[in-house]
Amino acid sequence: MFFSELSMAPADAILGLTAAFKADTRTPKANLGVGVFMDESGRTPVLDVVRHAERALLEEEQTKTYLPIAGDPAFGEAVRQLVLGADFCTEGRHGLATVQALGGTGALFLGARLLGTFRPGAKVWLPKPTWGNHRSIFRGAGLEIAEYPYYSATLRQVDADALVVALAEVAPGDVVLLHACCHNPSGADPDAATWTRIAEAARKGGWLPFFDFAYQGFGDGPDADRAGLLEILRVVPEAFVASSFSKNMGLYSERVGALTVVTADAPSAEATLSQLRCIVRATSSNAQRHGGAVALKVLQDPSLRSDWLAELEGMRHRIVANRTALVDGLRARRGDVDFSYLLRQKGMFSYCGLTDAQVNWLREVKAVYMVKGGRINVAGLLPSTLDFVCDSIAEAMGQNLPG
Ligand SMILES: Cc1ncc(COP(=O)(O)O)c(C=O)c1O
Repeated sequence: MFFSELSMAPADAILGLTAAFKADTRTPKANLGVGVFMDESGRTPVLDVVRHAERALLEEEQTKTYLPIAGDPAFGEAVRQLVLGADFCTEGRHGLATVQALGGTGALFLGARLLGTFRPGAKVWLPKPTWGNHRSIFRGAGLEIAEYPYYSATLRQVDADALVVALAEVAPGDVVLLHACCHNPSGADPDAATWTRIAEAARKGGWLPFFDFAYQGFGDGPDADRAGLLEILRVVPEAFVASSFSKNMGLYSERVGALTVVTADAPSAEATLSQLRCIVRATSSNAQRHGGAVALKVLQDPSLRSDWLAELEGMRHRIVANRTALVDGLRARRGDVDFSYLLRQKGMFSYCGLTDAQVNWLREVKAVYMVKGGRINVAGLLPSTLDFVCDSIAEAMGQNLPG
């Protein structure tokens, strides 16, 4: 017997929270746990440029036959230009190769499998805390996991000193996962000086940086968001970059992302690409057409591209405006607490500073849903629920709860 021996796997913490929110019949209620962008009415819209691109593709597309294993080479080129910037791509100091992947998750998976196959003993250093799936993906590829200190709840920001000390100890050949921007779950990113220190540690230590770039454009804009990553690439010969169009093009369920490898020279990029093709062949066989074609059309068509950048800026501005409104609302209710750390955070996610006991209290008593550890999705704040959320958080902060 096989199936009858299997026990239930634990439910996904974040997706389970959304299911519980939907089933909650109380009003008002607020879902700050979900990991997607929401507009003012609580919808996760299809971007206008995506609709345009899809309409055009409907007219133009002549075939659904298989794509090359690694995807359309033009897609790879467009992704590299976006992720690394045109200057870096034309410098010619490195070899570059890109494989289309099933979202940012698929990109991480491909990199993890490559490491698991060719550097099986490698340790992968994850920031503490990090997106929960990192652990599952790297462990699933047979790699050993270690953690480096990242966010300090006391400082309410990146603990730069502790981080740099820890990264200085990482063995050559080990892998260090870095969130390129908009750290999930904390929203706390390294400042420019800290990126320089991380770059120095990478250069001296000889470890392999693995960038998770799932939120390009949600921090300070697509160009500014790659600044830390480029700081490191200037001084190291090799890196992985896992990127995604889930958030910045709103293509979540189309599952379109990419793994780019930065290598010391062009032949290494060719060889790496050939190995990545073998992994894709044995997992999903070849690239998925629709999402990649949409993203490529948006990136290649000058008018769609500029409309996309405007829509992306709109999303970013909404997130920033929500942060400011949240802080104003909390300051009005709790003048005794310094909430300025919230304004320094970047992207959709924020550690709002609540304890797990307060998070539970908010869900059970107020129907305000957030992720354990106090992560909130700032984009989930709606004009209709802002006051209610601020009232509830202020009240939770006043509760004398154990833990
Ligand atoms: C840090 C981080 N990396 C990667 C991903 C993967 O995104 P996707 O596979 O949906 O493109 C996410 C999604 O929530 C994320 O938060």
